[in-house]
Amino acid sequence: MPPNKLPIVILISGIGSNLQTIIDAATRGELPVEIRAVISNRPGAKGLQRAADAGIATEVLDHKTFTSREDYDRALITLIDRFEPGLVVLAGFMRLLTDAFTTHYAGRILNIHPSLLPEFKGLHTHRRAIEESAGEHGASVHFVTAELDGGPVVSQARVPVHAGDSPEQLAARVLEQEHRIYPEAIRWFAEGRLRLGEDGRAWLDGRPLDEPVTLDSAADQ
Ligand code: GAR
Repeated sequence: MPPNKLPIVILISGIGSNLQTIIDAATRGELPVEIRAVISNRPGAKGLQRAADAGIATEVLDHKTFTSREDYDRALITLIDRFEPGLVVLAGFMRLLTDAFTTHYAGRILNIHPSLLPEFKGLHTHRRAIEESAGEHGASVHFVTAELDGGPVVSQARVPVHAGDSPEQLAARVLEQEHRIYPEAIRWFAEGRLRLGEDGRAWLDGRPLDEPVTLDSAADQ
């Protein structure tokens, strides 16, 4: 493997636990990326401190100071592109994205979503899974396209939904899996193994993925 590291920019809105696992994997030398910047749309996002602690440049672009989604996304593109990333990583970035934004980064933007897509797109996925008595739930890594949580799914991990689970308990079980599968998918991309094909599908190791790679944890919880 060449020692070249893929420059990436990570977008967050909150706690940044996924961000932390990416930082940790990169620090351990398990992820060939150079995190050039962490950008938050919320000034108080806890993840900003995690980035600062790791010596990573941080930026805040507060959506509340913009009057339109289009203006915000334009400014965000300008800010991100200053760091010349080869990949943009959404890690709990809680914003709807304009078509202009997703088109600009087509094929070089990944997201992690707390559900087994295409199930439970959008918000409050854990509560909805419990309310609908889903037997299992999980997390998905996907390429970002114009359709909200609708881009081609790269990998997934499933967890059981236990009787009496609260949304918080279920979210914690899912988050543990997010921390496994997101650095892995980013590594595939950084190593040139993963890409978005012109056919609109995710390709891994030279083959289109007919279904997501399943990375269920060995230990059944
Ligand atoms: C994660 O569960 C992530 O999957 C979710 O926000 C949480 C962020 O946690 N993202 C979405 O819901 C995007 N639609 P973190 O800040 O601790 O990484």
